[in-house]
Amino acid sequence: MSTTVSTVVGAGVERADGVDKVTGEARYSFERRVPDLAYVVPVPATVARGRVRAVDSRRALAEPGVLAVLDCETAPRLERPDGTHAELLVLQSAEVAYRGQIVAAVVATSLESAREAASLVEVDYEARPHDVELRAEHPDLYVPESANAGVPGEWSDGDVEEALTGSATVIDETYTTATEHHNPMEPHACTAVWEHDGLTLYNSDQGPYMTAGAVAGLFGLAPEQVRVVAEYIGGGFGSKATMSRPTAILAAMAAKAVGRPVKLALTRQQMFALVSYRPPSIQRVRIGADDAGRFTAIDHEAITQTSRIHEYVDQIGASTRIVYQAPVRRVVHRVVRLDVPTPGFMRGPGHASGMFALEVAVDELAQRLDVDPVALRIANDTDVEPWSGREFSSRSLVEALQTGAERFGWIPRGARSGEAARPRREDGWIVGTGVAAAHHPDYRFGSTARARALPDGRFEVQIAASDIGTGARTVLLQVAADALGVAGERISLIIGHSASGQAMMAGGSMGTSSWSWPVDMACRDLAGRLAAGERIPPEGLEVRADSAEAVKAAGELARHTFGASFAEVAADVRTGEVRVRRMLGVFAAGTIVNARTARSQFYGGMIMAHGQALLERTEIDPGPGDFANHDLASYHVPANADIGRLEVVMLDEHDRSGHPVGVKGIGELSMMGGAAAIANALSHATGHRFRDVPIRIEDVRAALRRQ
Ligand code: MOS
Repeated sequence: MSTTVSTVVGAGVERADGVDKVTGEARYSFERRVPDLAYVVPVPATVARGRVRAVDSRRALAEPGVLAVLDCETAPRLERPDGTHAELLVLQSAEVAYRGQIVAAVVATSLESAREAASLVEVDYEARPHDVELRAEHPDLYVPESANAGVPGEWSDGDVEEALTGSATVIDETYTTATEHHNPMEPHACTAVWEHDGLTLYNSDQGPYMTAGAVAGLFGLAPEQVRVVAEYIGGGFGSKATMSRPTAILAAMAAKAVGRPVKLALTRQQMFALVSYRPPSIQRVRIGADDAGRFTAIDHEAITQTSRIHEYVDQIGASTRIVYQAPVRRVVHRVVRLDVPTPGFMRGPGHASGMFALEVAVDELAQRLDVDPVALRIANDTDVEPWSGREFSSRSLVEALQTGAERFGWIPRGARSGEAARPRREDGWIVGTGVAAAHHPDYRFGSTARARALPDGRFEVQIAASDIGTGARTVLLQVAADALGVAGERISLIIGHSASGQAMMAGGSMGTSSWSWPVDMACRDLAGRLAAGERIPPEGLEVRADSAEAVKAAGELARHTFGASFAEVAADVRTGEVRVRRMLGVFAAGTIVNARTARSQFYGGMIMAHGQALLERTEIDPGPGDFANHDLASYHVPANADIGRLEVVMLDEHDRSGHPVGVKGIGELSMMGGAAAIANALSHATGHRFRDVPIRIEDVRAALRRQ
């Protein structure tokens, strides 16, 4: 599938695939029409810990249309290459590590038969006692060697206890964040077809090339024998990074077992066990300050959970090493293995939880020091990355805070502030305002792209990128058009195919920055050759680019993105109902390739922060060891009616990190700090400090009763 649009970098062009999406022309993974299809439906474990003694599939197999029942004895065996994520080893063991884990699967000629038969599979378990609750005093907590993204499990650059003891003022509080589940609009889906001496997967996937490699390893195939096609994806947020998710593996396994193409679509309920989630956290933050309001020490201890089968540790303390100056810092992660599904990447993994705690703690410190929270943050800005001493490639935190304060109409607080800085009462509501800083690291990864000039004057550009709703299909076309020096209408952009070659996934906010680099290289190279008079042969003139060396050579500057969030929040004095009346996000992330799709992504992140602050929480029921709310009726994500006025300001920023287009990531930055700004606003309004998210209506009522 190709798309064309007229473009240049920086223009707010419309989405290249917008019309295809709204008219239904865009085919998502489950909508692939493939002849001779069968359907697979997983059978979830109904115990949280134990062992499968036997699977009785006789009743299921007697259902009309049922082709096979797979269990840990009958399912195809998988290879286990080094580094294989345990969640991928579907039906390879009789052990049950969490409730909802796949213990069998039914393949049938219709989805209805497969679902019906799945309910008839009888599984006999040897159940063992389970433990699914994260507790601060859990005896099995340990410090991991490393958290996600290589952040150290424990790290410090001095004696934080001594520095805190000597500080004039110290904040020492505990903050908690809840388990949050992935709910992209499109549930995970895969159509698996064994063909052409290999495997084709139409998969809802954040990284087709990386998935192809992982799947090939598991099935003992050469990487080029697996073709992953991921043309349209209805959201991902980290849950569709298939190197760690079992859905494509089960579809491929089922297709292999029955010798026909197989489709798999998870139900919304199944996603709560199978596609990872943001783990809960319990965080103690201590910040010391001197009389002038300079931080003297920052200590951040974070407790979180993982599963029995895989150690995943959210990098909760990571931002604490970056955002503010202080002579001494310490960050410690502690994790416990519980009988729960494996948590994983979810928009701003670690940072989203850690920035909530840090930014509420800073607000508390400002209140204690009786200074303005915007001014306190600016006073603790830093010229160099605090833990490494490296210079930043660009850093616009102060500018974001100042621009935001002005735009929002922020009324400074503290000793010399007047009546206007107090919360106001109007008509049964009490209204407060809050601020928080935003931070996320900026990464990018070497990738490959191809550009081809065709004899008819058209161009074809391809890269194994994945547009999960971010606008990648549109912005890469802009980058290609700019580099080729031609109108976008003359370019066909092909994304979403692993066969296009090695490329980074849409993750870690590094999709656009990673992909635009080799697209720019290939297109400039091709344009140069054409300008030098090179002739286009009948099959076209193709150049390939690999950015790996250039990315490596780009140097050692510290790369991060920053911003600031401001919120005005009202609480109904009688009912405790909370309304976020307006939210302003000011963000700086290098060159914004497309202001329209970027703004949309910033809105999305701010809305997800609203969910983190006020709505999203998956409750685990210790009895059955299961998530009690596992659908959209009981797990609440913000809907249109929840959202007040949103405003986004994108600051111009010139980045010195050597990226040819100057791109930095925005997908995760957009969510950072928003929850803290809302919580801080609600604390301002009610006079009660909120340290636990989501803040529920009963929490607000209790706070108002104390007034
Ligand atoms: Mo994102 S959590 O890096 O897909």
